[in-house]
Amino acid sequence: AEILVLNGPNLNLLGRREPQIYGTVTLDEIRARLAARAAAAGHTLAFHQENAEHALVEHVHRAAERGTACAIINPGAYTHTSIALRDAFLGTGLPFIEVHLSNPHAREPFRHRSYLADIALGVIAGLGADGYELALEALIRRLAAGTV
Ligand code: DQA
Repeated sequence: AEILVLNGPNLNLLGRREPQIYGTVTLDEIRARLAARAAAAGHTLAFHQENAEHALVEHVHRAAERGTACAIINPGAYTHTSIALRDAFLGTGLPFIEVHLSNPHAREPFRHRSYLADIALGVIAGLGADGYELALEALIRRLAAGTV
């Protein structure tokens, strides 16, 4: 099956962006790790990073249209603002796991609210780049069990 991995604004800066918060692993390294794990499990990955909200919305639409099974998304700051992204997942029914490198609940109050968390399969936060791999592992298990 195809698994969509979406990354929101500023995640292209990963590795040099506030490394004390986000770590030193780059998005390309994350992409490589996930692609290898997905391939080993017989799945394919569609991996994107977009700074624009509408581009993320369109990735969700297009993925659902071509039958993508499920998604992992780190929506970046749109986590805390985007009703449009929420509606894209509600409108397509694409199942997804929300991932954050940092733990938003240990940070500023404006990061405590997520417009996606209550409609996600689950949320992984605060575990750095490992969070993406753990989310992928969970989706691979669910695909094998036919529960996603
Ligand atoms: C983030 C947390 C968000 O609050 C922030 O705006 C980001 C990254 C994370 O991965 O920890 O851009 O989603």
